Amino acid sequence: MANIIILGSQWGDEGKGKIVDLFSDRFDIVARYQGGHNAGHTVFIGLKKFILKLIPSGILRPGKKAVIGNGLVLDPAALLDEIDTLEAAGVDVTHNLAISNRAHVLFPQHRMMERMSEGRPGRISIGTTSRGIGPCYEDKIARRGIRVADLLDRDAFRAQYDSLMEEKHAIARTFGIDEEDDAHAIRDQYETMAERIRPMVCDTAMLLNSAIREGKRVLFEGAQGTMLDIDHGTYPFVTSSSASAGGACTGTGVAPTRIGGVVGVSKAYITRVGGGPFPTEAGDPEGEQIRRRGSEFGAVTGRPRRCGWFDAPLLRYTAAINGFDSLVVTKLDVLDDFDTIPVCVGYRAGGKELVEMPPRVACMENVEPVYERLPGWKTSTFGVSSYEELPARAKDYLAFLEARVGVEVGSVSTGPERTQTIVRAGSRLEALLG
Ligand code: GDP
Ligand code: IMO
Ligand code: MG
Repeated sequence: MANIIILGSQWGDEGKGKIVDLFSDRFDIVARYQGGHNAGHTVFIGLKKFILKLIPSGILRPGKKAVIGNGLVLDPAALLDEIDTLEAAGVDVTHNLAISNRAHVLFPQHRMMERMSEGRPGRISIGTTSRGIGPCYEDKIARRGIRVADLLDRDAFRAQYDSLMEEKHAIARTFGIDEEDDAHAIRDQYETMAERIRPMVCDTAMLLNSAIREGKRVLFEGAQGTMLDIDHGTYPFVTSSSASAGGACTGTGVAPTRIGGVVGVSKAYITRVGGGPFPTEAGDPEGEQIRRRGSEFGAVTGRPRRCGWFDAPLLRYTAAINGFDSLVVTKLDVLDDFDTIPVCVGYRAGGKELVEMPPRVACMENVEPVYERLPGWKTSTFGVSSYEELPARAKDYLAFLEARVGVEVGSVSTGPERTQTIVRAGSRLEALLG
């Protein structure tokens, strides 16, 4: 039975949390491979609402193991807060969560560095989640980061921390930032938090590889989306990690030969939070109509999400980067009221058709989307759980997306709940799920 990756195929918030939670009952372990508490995955189980930021969505299934892989950046305060909230709601986290000893530790000083770079005159503001994610990954790549294993070794930690913070404060002074932080108090807090985390820390690459050898199944959960990937996204308006399928291997220590399938999650339309190019962004009133019907507000920051129409060239690009076997199309119900629904089928620039995704933001901003308008179905699809029961025009819409992207639509989501989902009989997805 295959180990599979489930990830976002747009700019994040595609509904990955719901889908990972739903499919995780077929797997033994769910492993996150990148990002940090910039992610916000909302999962509804009956009347209970859970927002997961650092912890894989699989934690909500009793008895399943959840893994925070080496590719993540970990804010211990955010993690412990999330654990406490979940445990108060009756979820057993401490016995089921394993944290990589190689994940990087995020400190409040990373947020200070981010405020400095985001706010500096002349610097492009990315519109980040302000969680310090980028600066923590900067330290990782610069080979001066502090990892979970270092945090657990008190003497080594003190020396590394003091040296790292001396650098941060020197940079802050150079740029005339007089934000005071009590570096010693923060160090003490981290030492205390380390003791709560210690029992969950291990070599998660070994844990995952032994589990796979024993025939257990792993689901790799992507955060963010491929268009926010540091290499393949709309750079520099991206996050600082490898959100695409390749990240699952580097971010967990499991080889590509052990992974049998990749599933992309896409909304039936598209959204993005923060700055950056967005060729199919809808003006009002349609943009506002999507935002209202889809409750498109950030789960982490509460910011209104920018809303627009399904972008087939973008999906073809992310399908190629990730090698999608199947697509899950979410939030179909949000389009129920539209008379016609535009779908972008191609890009033009300077009067010519573009065949490749422009590598530069300046080019992407000038792209003219070419639309085809499909008739709306004007009937509620909310909660529909069998493909046959979808209105004919909704099926036509899905068939159109499938043809334009060149990947099967293996599953359709029609509401936030587990039961409000269709998995198509005979699909590649059904075979992968087993
Ligand atoms: P993620 O970051 O990819 O996990 O997505 P988010 O959780 O940030 O955003 C998706 C939102 O849409 C959540 O509030 C979900 O509860 C909700 N959602 C997921 N699937 C559906 C669906 O098919 N229909 C509707 N109406 N809402 C959905
Ligand atoms: P999930 O996992 C949507 C966006 C931010 C900003 C950019 C960089 O819920 O899909 P960062 O704080 O990561 O340095 O911000 O990336 N961003 C997301 N947008 N969903 C997310 O996560 C995101 N995580 C980061 O808005 O534009
Ligand atoms: Mg989200």
